[in-house]
Amino acid sequence: MAKIGILTGGGDCPGLNSVIRAVVRKGINDGYEVIGIKNGWKGLIENESGSLNLQSISGILPRGGTILGTSRTNPYKKELGVEKAIVNYRALGLDALIVVGGEDTLGVAAKLAKEGLSIVGVPKTIDNDLSATDYTFGFDTAVNIATECIDRLHTTAESHHRIIVVEVMGRHAGWIAIESGIAGGADVILIPEIPIDMDEVCALLKKRHARGKTFSIVVVAEGAHFKEGPAVLQEQKLDEFGHVRLGGIGEALAREIEKRTGYETRVSVLGHIQRGGTPTAFDRVLGTRFGVKAVELIKEKKFGQMVALSGNKIISVSLETATGKLKTVDPEYYELAKVFFG
Ligand code: F6P
Repeated sequence: MAKIGILTGGGDCPGLNSVIRAVVRKGINDGYEVIGIKNGWKGLIENESGSLNLQSISGILPRGGTILGTSRTNPYKKELGVEKAIVNYRALGLDALIVVGGEDTLGVAAKLAKEGLSIVGVPKTIDNDLSATDYTFGFDTAVNIATECIDRLHTTAESHHRIIVVEVMGRHAGWIAIESGIAGGADVILIPEIPIDMDEVCALLKKRHARGKTFSIVVVAEGAHFKEGPAVLQEQKLDEFGHVRLGGIGEALAREIEKRTGYETRVSVLGHIQRGGTPTAFDRVLGTRFGVKAVELIKEKKFGQMVALSGNKIISVSLETATGKLKTVDPEYYELAKVFFG
C-alpha cells in the first residue's frame, strides 16, 4: 500500500486539523496509508510518527491547534538534520510527504524537494503573508478573534474616555491589523509596511476628540515601527529561521501617545489568543479543500508543488515560487483603511 506522510510545522493555527482530517479521509478513500509525523521537522529528524486512521481524526474538525504537534525546528540548522530527515523519510517507506506550514517550514520543504523528496506543500499561517495564495487558513479565524476583541475594547475605552492601543500579531505583514482594524472600526491602524509618523497619529486622535469623541481605538501590528529610532522588539535573539521575537510596539506607542496628547492611554496585547481555539467555517473549508487537493497532487505525482487559493479555485504552484517572497499589504489597501481614520 502506498504511504503518505504528513507533518505540521511552525506556529500553529486554527484549521490545521481540518487539513489532517481531509488528507486522512481522502488518502484512505484513494487507497493510501497515512502516517502522521510528530512536531514538524523535529519529528522527521527524530523519527517520531504513527499511523493515522479514521479513529485518530474523529472529532478534530472544530479543534484548534494540531493533533500532530508542531515545532520551529529547522533541519538545516541541526547537526545532520537534513541527512536524518532523508534517512527517516526513506525508512518510513513514504511515497510522498505533505508539509503543512508557513514560509519557514515550506522553505525547508522547497529545499528538501530539490534533494529528491516527493513533497507537496500546504500553506498555513495566521499572518496571511504567503504570496502565491490569496489566503492561508488560520488568518480568517485570527481576524475574527481580533475583531471581537476590538469590539469589546470599544465599550471600556468609551466608558473611561481612554485611548486603547491594541497590538495584534502578523510578523512583518499588516494583514491582521488592517482587516481587524477595518472590521472593528479602529480610529487609527498602523502596519509594518508604513512607518509610524507620531505627529500624524496624534493629529488624527486630536481631530477625533475635537469633534466630541472622548475615546479612540488604535490597532498596531506587532511588526510596525516608528519612522525614527530602532525597532521595538521583545527579544533580539534569532530563532533557527533567523527571526527575532516581535512585540512591545503597543506599549511604546501608548506611552508616546499619552505623552504627546495628554489622553489617558492603555494597551491590550492580544498575542496567542489570536491563534487559539476553534477555526471559523471559512478556515475549516479552506483547510479541507487544501488537504484534498494535496492528495490529488500526490496521485498525479506533481511534487515540489504547493496548493493555493486563487479566486475561488484551488490550484498548485511551485514551492520555490511560493516561498520566494512575502505578501505584504499594498499601499492602495491602506489608503482605503485611512478613509476611516480620526
Ligand atoms: O507566524 C505566526 C505568528 O503567530 C506571528 O504572528 C508571531 O510573530 C509569531 O508567530 C509568534 O511566534 P511564537 O508562537 O513562537 O511566539
